[in-house]
Amino acid sequence: MPTLLHIDSSPAGDHSVSRALTAEFVKHWKAANPDGKVIDRDLTKTALLPVSGAWIGAAYTPPDALTAEQKALLALSDELVGELLEADEYVFGVPMYNFGVPASFKLWIDSVARVGKTFAYVDGAPKGLVEGKKATFLIASGGDYGPGSPAESYNFVEPYLKAFFGFMGVTDVHFQTAGGTAALNYGADRATFLAPQVEAIRAKFAK
Ligand SMILES: Cc1cc2nc3c(=O)[nH]c(=O)nc-3n(C[C@H](O)[C@H](O)[C@H](O)COP(=O)(O)O)c2cc1C
Repeated sequence: MPTLLHIDSSPAGDHSVSRALTAEFVKHWKAANPDGKVIDRDLTKTALLPVSGAWIGAAYTPPDALTAEQKALLALSDELVGELLEADEYVFGVPMYNFGVPASFKLWIDSVARVGKTFAYVDGAPKGLVEGKKATFLIASGGDYGPGSPAESYNFVEPYLKAFFGFMGVTDVHFQTAGGTAALNYGADRATFLAPQVEAIRAKFAK
């Protein structure tokens, strides 16, 4: 069954641009995959903690040697890795926070980067184990970081996500950025602002 993993990380609820765009993506994906399954993962409602020493110890312990306590420490990470491996396709809503990704999304990243599950070392070199997947990142930023813009070099979101997902073996990655959402705080019309973004998502599915 085709499976889409849908992950949001904006805490802005109905005001969120990235959430509006992932919802649009999911709508089209469901229409294109009527028998498909969507896994919704809201990182603002997922109780992820920063990585601790005990967690690292557990993550690097062979599965058959894990204590009950270590298994409990890894339970949420195992669940998130399971979602990642189960899905064929991913859509992520990503707000730009301080030129990077929000802390909740970074905690998810730290949680799914698991040796032996999402990457391995082969002859001393890392090898991604999450292969054959397609990822779409729908990014919202208050400012504009597009090619040629003065702040272009401050955009660490897209290069970071490309590097991290590539490390896990996900190389079929697509980025769409709604830059300049700050205009919405100064009275710009939301529907007019979203229209080209919504159209770009529709066009992805029209191909
Ligand atoms: C804590 C915080 C940090 C932010 N940092 C940046 C930033 O570095 N660059 C930027 O252009 N916008 C920044 N913004 C604005 C957000 O990127 C913008 O509001 C975006 O629309 C958030 O996505 P959302 O609408 O899906 O919540 C920041 C907003 C917040 C709340």
